[in-house]
Amino acid sequence: MFKFFFSFFFAFFFIVNNVEGNPHNYREALAKSLLFFQGQRSGKLPPHQLLTWRSNSGLSDGRLANVDLTGGYYDAGDNVKFNFPMAFTTTMLSWSTLEYGRRMGPQIQEARAAIRWATDYLLKCATATPGRLYVGVGDPNVDHKCWERPEDMDTARTVYWVSPDKPGSDVAGETAAALAAASIVFRRVDPTYSKILLRTAQKVFQFALQYQGSYSSSLGSAVCPFYCSYSGYKDELLWGAAWLFRATNVVYYYNLIKNLGADDQPDLFSWDNKYAGAHVLLSRRALLNHDKNFVQYQQEAENFICKILPNSPSSSTQYTQGGLMYKLPESNLQYVTSITFLLTTYSKYMSFTKHTFNCGNLFITPTTLRSLAKRQVDYILGDNPLRMSYMVGYGPYFPKRIHHRGSSLPSLATHPQSIGCDGGFEPFFHSMSPNPNILVGAVVGGPNQSDGFPDERDDYSHSEPATYINGAFVGPLAYFAGAH
Ligand SMILES: *[C@@H]1O[C@H](CO)[C@@H](O)[C@H](O)[C@H]1NC(C)=O
Repeated sequence: MFKFFFSFFFAFFFIVNNVEGNPHNYREALAKSLLFFQGQRSGKLPPHQLLTWRSNSGLSDGRLANVDLTGGYYDAGDNVKFNFPMAFTTTMLSWSTLEYGRRMGPQIQEARAAIRWATDYLLKCATATPGRLYVGVGDPNVDHKCWERPEDMDTARTVYWVSPDKPGSDVAGETAAALAAASIVFRRVDPTYSKILLRTAQKVFQFALQYQGSYSSSLGSAVCPFYCSYSGYKDELLWGAAWLFRATNVVYYYNLIKNLGADDQPDLFSWDNKYAGAHVLLSRRALLNHDKNFVQYQQEAENFICKILPNSPSSSTQYTQGGLMYKLPESNLQYVTSITFLLTTYSKYMSFTKHTFNCGNLFITPTTLRSLAKRQVDYILGDNPLRMSYMVGYGPYFPKRIHHRGSSLPSLATHPQSIGCDGGFEPFFHSMSPNPNILVGAVVGGPNQSDGFPDERDDYSHSEPATYINGAFVGPLAYFAGAH
């Protein structure tokens, strides 16, 4: 096995360096993209924690509701646990592992660990109190007024939940998707855990379905405008049912998918809007299993791709002069990574069956999608007008002042005294100095529409990393790391 891996490894290097002439080390980027998740950990850290500037935090999370909700991830540069984006991140990490696990080499262990850190927490949220799904810890309005290390947190760790009288089909649908997807990841390596994940996914999904409503209405300013469910909850019901169908093959979920009437066709894919992801996921049945019942989703997946490709007559997607897909001004790279995931994955499905299609008069092959995906990945890793890698700690030139509390403040080891809520603004937040702690692997919001990037700590639209940017990037990195 070991020997096989090494010959595979060298074969890969030969191809990438000599034939394609590409200088990027996708294996290194993949390893770093997973390491990032260690920097976002909440709860009690294990002894083998590699980002050692982080320590235990949020150890009393859940106490205000008399439950244990320790663990999980801080979503981005703050100290709040928002389950809606966390669950999406988990679904994307799981999907990355399912599609590209064989190309990950030893990193598959790290991918599973990154998933499990989230699912351990999500399981607690789903099972701690019957009739409730906990959906977040930490008052975001209070937290966002502070600039303090997670290890020092002294802000209200308010606990939020949805229940039959305060429903949240969006957050519950996504949580069900995450648990179902992860159940497939662990099916062989930990069957007992996998069964718990699947059983819980089914229960959470039933709750989402039976008590329909948006968590934005139920929880208001606790989740909006931070992670408001702008696209409604039909997409999460479709996505949750699609994942449960993939995990179980039970016809009940297929019938649900058919009957949901969720047929929006947006031109992006994100923690909020899952239609395109669901369509690609379902099209797998059409392409790989030749199942005619799923041809409709294949069509929808292809319509989506035609809205993304630069020369397609139905394209509604802009590109910067430097070649980066440009969707929205705030944290644009989240859209780039999640759409790139769909491009590599659909390209992979097409290759299996030698399938091609047309966007108007534009002829699309698997290589069309692969090339665009590669261009996006390479741009992020440094092939751009600034020669800037938007992944922290990768390449010679990367963001030095990311909008991230833990990274920008001295660690407990160098500064044992508490910094407190206001203590981080001066001299740390407002300083021009580079962050003292390197959040290795973090992909930030990215450049602006002119390929510019000021690298300023207060510029959260461009300088903040987020779990869902990385969660979707792991798949494409593994895809190119294992290319052969
Ligand atoms: C993009 O960022 C650069 C560098 O900070 C800045 O000079 C430029 O004005 C910005 N462009 C846009 C369109 O925001």
